[in-house]
Amino acid sequence: MIQGKRILVSGGAGFLGSFLVARLATVNRVTVVDDLSTGRRENLRGIDCKLVKARAWGGAACALVKKGGFDYIVNCAANGYIPVSVARPWFDFENNLVQPVKLLETVRNLKKRPRVAVVSSAAVLGEVRSLPMRETDLCAPVSPYGAGKLGVEQYASVYASVYGVPVKTIRLFPLFGPRQRKQLIYDLLVKLHAPGPDLRVYGTGRERRDLMYVEDAAAGFAALLEKGAFDGSTVNLCTGKGVSVARVAEELMRASGIRKRIVYAGGMRAGDVKAMIGSTTRLKKSGFAAVTPFEEGIRRTVTWFRSVP
Ligand SMILES: NC(=O)c1ccc[n+]([C@@H]2O[C@H](COP(=O)([O-])OP(=O)(O)OC[C@H]3O[C@@H](n4cnc5c(N)ncnc54)[C@H](O)[C@@H]3O)[C@@H](O)[C@H]2O)c1
Repeated sequence: MIQGKRILVSGGAGFLGSFLVARLATVNRVTVVDDLSTGRRENLRGIDCKLVKARAWGGAACALVKKGGFDYIVNCAANGYIPVSVARPWFDFENNLVQPVKLLETVRNLKKRPRVAVVSSAAVLGEVRSLPMRETDLCAPVSPYGAGKLGVEQYASVYASVYGVPVKTIRLFPLFGPRQRKQLIYDLLVKLHAPGPDLRVYGTGRERRDLMYVEDAAAGFAALLEKGAFDGSTVNLCTGKGVSVARVAEELMRASGIRKRIVYAGGMRAGDVKAMIGSTTRLKKSGFAAVTPFEEGIRRTVTWFRSVP
């Protein structure tokens, strides 16, 4: 892992960001910039880092970039939830595309440029014909969120090739774990703990997701900061394996000790796709592979879920 560096992490008080900051801060000097819109101060409790409450990338955050002498900047800050982008596309566009490009533009104008990692999502691809999903596959997003993230990837590539900004895109596949208060696993846990005999699940149960436990994602992210070029290219951060929604529901019931009748509601929510499984070919070059078994990740997530008031 990189050591002794000055690192700025936007969105560092959020789900992924806080696990990444915890890992990096053990051997680096980390500053977090977060507006605490979905993130929480408590996610950073006990971690040796500085939290600046500000919008990324408004005036105060950009001033930090200009004066901070950072070696690395990680842009995690974003709306991280597809349904929000469907309900509020303009909000998503401003937060998820305009703001990261502002960061790239600020870095472009620096004499000593930090290395930048921007975060994208498998949602850039849309419904694909072949699996696993490679970084070079044609992208056809089906949500404002996916379109915004695709824009980020393309701007990162252009800022690297046209202006020489040292940037890479890390394309995340769905994550899960403690502190996540959205998406499939959290939604199912909430429903599982609600009264009633049925567990209503969107779709057919046959949809498949490449689910990575969040601490593995933080370790993989750190590996990608250390290894591989900052040349505008994109690398998947994924397990390479698909888990069906039916298996997720079963595993959650087993780990929770709550049994309900699963009722598949059919249909799909706007922005959802049938399968999302990533190729690990590029990721493997960093030497990283996910290590947490799916069942263990679920067990830790259930333990956390039960501990929150
Ligand atoms: N969690 C996943 O499964 C997943 C999958 C693919 C991609 N991603 C991407 O990973 C990143 C982190 O997602 P997450 O799941 O941790 O979400 P999250 O909502 O927990 O974290 C986002 C953090 O950014 C902060 N934030 C949002 N907009 C901001 C702004 N303009 N200025 C400052 N702070 C801001 C929030 O307060 C929060 O702390 C996002 O870019 C998301 O799109 C996540």
